[in-house]
Amino acid sequence: MNKTRIGVLGMGNMGMSHAKRILKGNVPHMELAAVCDTDPAKLATCDENLPGIPQFKTGEEMIASGLCDSILIAVPHYDHEKYTVEAFEAGLHVYCEKPGAVYTLQGLHMIEAAKKSGKVFCVGFQQRTNPTFRKIREMVQSGELGQIKKVVWIVTNWYRPQAYHDSSSWRSTWKLEGGGTIVNQNPHNIDLFQWMFGMPDEVLSTIDYGKYYDIEVDDDVSVLMKYKSGTVGIYTTSTGEMPGTNRLEISCDMGKIVLENDELIFWRNEVSEREFNKTNTAVFPTIKNEKIKIETPKLGMQQHDALLEDFASAVCCGTPLLSPGVECINELTLADAFYYSDWQGQKWVDTNNFDHEGYYKALEEKIRNSTYVKHTATPAAPVDMNSSFQK
Ligand SMILES: NC(=O)c1ccc[n+]([C@@H]2O[C@H](COP(=O)([O-])OP(=O)(O)OC[C@H]3O[C@@H](n4cnc5c(N)ncnc54)[C@H](O)[C@@H]3O)[C@@H](O)[C@H]2O)c1
Repeated sequence: MNKTRIGVLGMGNMGMSHAKRILKGNVPHMELAAVCDTDPAKLATCDENLPGIPQFKTGEEMIASGLCDSILIAVPHYDHEKYTVEAFEAGLHVYCEKPGAVYTLQGLHMIEAAKKSGKVFCVGFQQRTNPTFRKIREMVQSGELGQIKKVVWIVTNWYRPQAYHDSSSWRSTWKLEGGGTIVNQNPHNIDLFQWMFGMPDEVLSTIDYGKYYDIEVDDDVSVLMKYKSGTVGIYTTSTGEMPGTNRLEISCDMGKIVLENDELIFWRNEVSEREFNKTNTAVFPTIKNEKIKIETPKLGMQQHDALLEDFASAVCCGTPLLSPGVECINELTLADAFYYSDWQGQKWVDTNNFDHEGYYKALEEKIRNSTYVKHTATPAAPVDMNSSFQK
């Protein structure tokens, strides 16, 4: 197969953006075969933007049409599970937008369906294509940093004003979105955290809900993570800070790495601190270090296009996936554990034995007990999806 014929499900901000780029030919091994949206107004915009592309009013019809051998799922998160499973059962390959799902039980179900079908399953963590994150991962895994002591990631540059929360009826509600910034913006960073440093064994969080906005879900989150290896993770995020910060600092045996403003700096110790400590007798010593600016190659294409091409190449040529769908469970476990820790009065949550059923019940209770009245307002100007992405 030279190109996979993909059907895009959900022609909102993300789905339309993907469809336009595929139609332009940005993804060599992919052809836009069909689009689908349950909202007739959204389908009407496809006449002008995607002329000649077959349109469907339901996902079921598009999946059964025979026009597609793969599907790109870009509907609100709760429905990722339903369409992923239906597509696999119909023998299609699946590229599912992030987050894989809302809660871990959904993710587990999707993974089971993928395994049964034997088809390609990719989850849309396009930030994995960023050469800088790939470089950090490589450095951690190669062992050249020695023991990782502490990872501190401040991700407060996901500013989302009230107008954003009001822009869709499903956003920022327990019932229709399943969470706030943990479920919407942060899945990228949470996934990268576990992708670069591995899964923490325990997490403890403190979360504010509707602190900055008239919403019922989280808009300010801070988390402590512990690894059996001794590594400590500190993660803090918010949608209410302007100007925000995106700063990743890794303290390790061999020095310190800082990523901020697209600059990756390694302060490399002359010797390992742990080794130095074994023989040092000075009371207030320092270890000499060298400041190294680490250059990484440019990606050369838009991140979404790069991940779509990675998926298409897996379908057409059998190449390994950069963001295998099976790994969505790691991000989902962490995201759900962040909530679960806070909901249980800031208790440590064991991620290795995560209580999937317990979390699901707690989420259902949030939905049942919600008294929040959702306000929706059509954005004053068309939404430019490109301004929503971080690199
Ligand atoms: N990878 C990224 O960086 C990124 C960025 C933005 C959004 N996303 C993800 O994409 C998904 C959609 O987000 P969005 O911002 O485009 O939302 P949106 O509200 O703009 O669009 C969702 C679209 O899905 C349609 N829809 C809803 N239910 C449907 C159904 N059952 N069948 C067919 N169409 C249906 C709606 O009518 C709407 O047009 C979310 O899961 C979100 O997390 C990913």
